[in-house]
Amino acid sequence: MSKVADIFETMEYGPAPESAERANSWLDDHGRAFGHYLGGAFTDPDAGESFETANPATGVAMARVRQGSPEDVDEAVRAARAAQPRWWALGPHGRARYLYALARRIQKHARLFAVLESMDNGKPIRESRDLDIPLVARHFYHHAGWAQLMAGELPDYEPVGVVGQIIPWNFPMLMLAWKVAPALATGNTVVLKPAEFTPLTALLFAEISREAELPAGVFNVVTGDGRTGAALVAHPSVDKIAFTGSTEVGRIIRSETAGTGKRVSLELGGKSPFVVFDDADLDSVVEGVVDAIWFNQGQVCCAGSRILAQEGIAVALERKLRARMETLRMGDPLDKAVDMGAIVAPVQLERIRSLVEKGRGEGAEVWQPTWGVPREGWFYPPTLCTNCAPSGTLAQVEIFGPVVVMMTFRTPAEAVALANDTRYGLAASIWTESVNLALDVAPKVKAGTVWVNCTNFFDAASGFGGYRESGFGREGGREGLWEYVRPTWEGTAPQAPELSAPVPEDVPPPGSAAGAPAGAGGGDTPAAGGRSVDRTAKLYIGGKQTRSDGDYSMAVRGVGGRVAGEVGWGNRKDVRNAVEAARKAQAGWAARTAHNRAQILYYLAENLDARRKEMAARLASMSGDGKGAAAEVEAAVRRLFTYGAWADKWDGRVHSTPFRNVTLAMNEPIGVMGAVCPDELPLLGFVSCLAPLVAMGNAVVAIPSRVGPLAATDFYQVMDTSDVPGGVVNIVTGVHDEIVPTLAAHDDVDGIWYFGSAVGSTDVERASTGNMKRTWVSYGRSRNWVDAHQGEGEEFLREATQVKNIWVPYGE
Ligand code: NAI
Ligand code: MG
Repeated sequence: MSKVADIFETMEYGPAPESAERANSWLDDHGRAFGHYLGGAFTDPDAGESFETANPATGVAMARVRQGSPEDVDEAVRAARAAQPRWWALGPHGRARYLYALARRIQKHARLFAVLESMDNGKPIRESRDLDIPLVARHFYHHAGWAQLMAGELPDYEPVGVVGQIIPWNFPMLMLAWKVAPALATGNTVVLKPAEFTPLTALLFAEISREAELPAGVFNVVTGDGRTGAALVAHPSVDKIAFTGSTEVGRIIRSETAGTGKRVSLELGGKSPFVVFDDADLDSVVEGVVDAIWFNQGQVCCAGSRILAQEGIAVALERKLRARMETLRMGDPLDKAVDMGAIVAPVQLERIRSLVEKGRGEGAEVWQPTWGVPREGWFYPPTLCTNCAPSGTLAQVEIFGPVVVMMTFRTPAEAVALANDTRYGLAASIWTESVNLALDVAPKVKAGTVWVNCTNFFDAASGFGGYRESGFGREGGREGLWEYVRPTWEGTAPQAPELSAPVPEDVPPPGSAAGAPAGAGGGDTPAAGGRSVDRTAKLYIGGKQTRSDGDYSMAVRGVGGRVAGEVGWGNRKDVRNAVEAARKAQAGWAARTAHNRAQILYYLAENLDARRKEMAARLASMSGDGKGAAAEVEAAVRRLFTYGAWADKWDGRVHSTPFRNVTLAMNEPIGVMGAVCPDELPLLGFVSCLAPLVAMGNAVVAIPSRVGPLAATDFYQVMDTSDVPGGVVNIVTGVHDEIVPTLAAHDDVDGIWYFGSAVGSTDVERASTGNMKRTWVSYGRSRNWVDAHQGEGEEFLREATQVKNIWVPYGE
């Protein structure tokens, strides 16, 4: 027997296991075999193929679940479809009551949820009990509130319909809550596909939803692996896919859903920087690192897996970290005194091992504490890697395990450059005692969440989601609701009549023998306004008129087939030049004050107004409709005023998160944006795309209307006189089939709007997968550009921005 003195000597904790009894008896009650949960009931667990889910801490199987077939998915989607109209008709308060009831029941069964989660996933009970499950309940409470408020806060929006949700295994219940709560609150019904390694809490939740008398079919679970997920993605009657998981699968989903009209939100991987300035409180930093990378064994999409330390403190920090790592306790996840549990599955363990070995092979120094990991189960020790090149495997690849790399920097600018030196952009954490420095750096880091002097804080009131290849869409907060609704008018909008693409006629370069103007009747045809047609066909790139790369022009035919003018016949090279010019201009444009951008938009309006006659004549020369042309110019002037007005009013928010902190939700520009403008109303359509993007600080490469491109090319004159900095707006004319794919596939374009045919929309969505750029396409749906409801406003502003949440704690 050990004496008290011995215990003091080693400071060993005795084991303090949480009881697994209730979880085991729940599993036993179900015969340790589960069917799917469809239409309000569990299906037969023995009706088809099944597989086992194991406890990662022991490797022992806990229960058997079904491998969902396409038929199972179909049945689930049908149940959800059938239930959706009544669920929506229930109204805000009706739905709010159910969400509230779910939240209450989650709290009531919190202990069972936490234990089952830790058993199925391997995470320490302290985490599932104190973090995962309380946050799950919080999400349902918060969204019960959104259900209640929907009619007032989201007027003129309706649910998208049936939502397929595919979630990973790292936070099984929390990811369920993040997806299910907002979907149900806004009147959608759900088919959920939990991860194959951790299906059990979703099945428990299904049972509890029945206890809460949630109407049958509103929430359905189909278990299975990636094949089941793929069947859900492919199902024609699913209106939206919400996915969290690997970037690889996210990319497959993006391209599989291209052109189907399915809405997609993707929350993908990350390689989040953890930036430590030399004035930071190092003891807090060490605890921060523990939470950033050893929380949930590092199997966290936003794990702070790259410590960037300012040179002066790097050595001290490394020393302190090693000392702290020696004291971390790893073991039975149900032990309340354990800091780190097990890795979810052998395949993940192997992945971690092989990536670390690869890093070692590249010259990295790998350090692990002296204590050994448990022999049973799937464990990997906390690991600190130094001497890694910023371009090396360990610094670039998401390891998804308890492995952190440490690199150094000298200046804040260098810190920002290193922080942004990945394909990802999910989260970042910044440590400094200077709030000025933190708030200067935060907007420069490309990440959807920035934690100042803290890390891995989450709350239902704050949106979470990525920039760049970390995906798009937000979960949580007001900003997360938009993923699950659409404007009511959209549901009944007709398809736009498909315009046959004008056949381009090349016009040889001036000066060549065949260079005579192609205008009908020969010679310069005076435009209707009396001004001679400008025959020098140019693109507008970097604030300058430039000849197209091939030096070719295209005739634009107007009324009666008469040539109304010519535009440059741009090619891929021109698109690339335009993107480069936009990239150069974007940061400077975004850094200007909103007031300044507003002034420039008003100035554009003023200068367009001064040329209204000329512009209207030009439009009329293409459309033959003089009255319509005058009205269009007038509408374009108004639209510019609208976004001049909005430029300094599309404010962010301060979210009410329940910590001693402020959570600043800032609307940031997306970056370099492509805009393929609608064919109809060539001036108004062009201005309607350009103005919101520019107002929000993006730089734009615009591809104007196919039928009326002269409206846009004339507009450069307005820009030249309105102080729009070169490169903020670039215009490339040409054959859409030739240039749009280049723009949509370009890796330095951050997002693209496409107003055109269904086929074109498909191509744009598919081409966007390379860098997972954000897309907003119309699928050939007609939009009333003149109408203030459809043609301008918040929908455009949302699509022109991305929300960054910056968490700033206060107090001592
Ligand atoms: P995964 O992306 O394959 O799995 C996530 C979910 O997608 C699971 O429910 C899975 O069954 C489903 N799925 C797989 N293939 C699918 C397909 N073709 N269509 C539809 N659904 C499909 O991730 P996995 O294999 O579990 O982990 C591999 C790596 O992905 C990890 O090492 C980690 O780097 C990353 N990952 C990132 C996560 C995040 O939260 N960002 C979560 C899980 C994994
Ligand atoms: Mg499991």
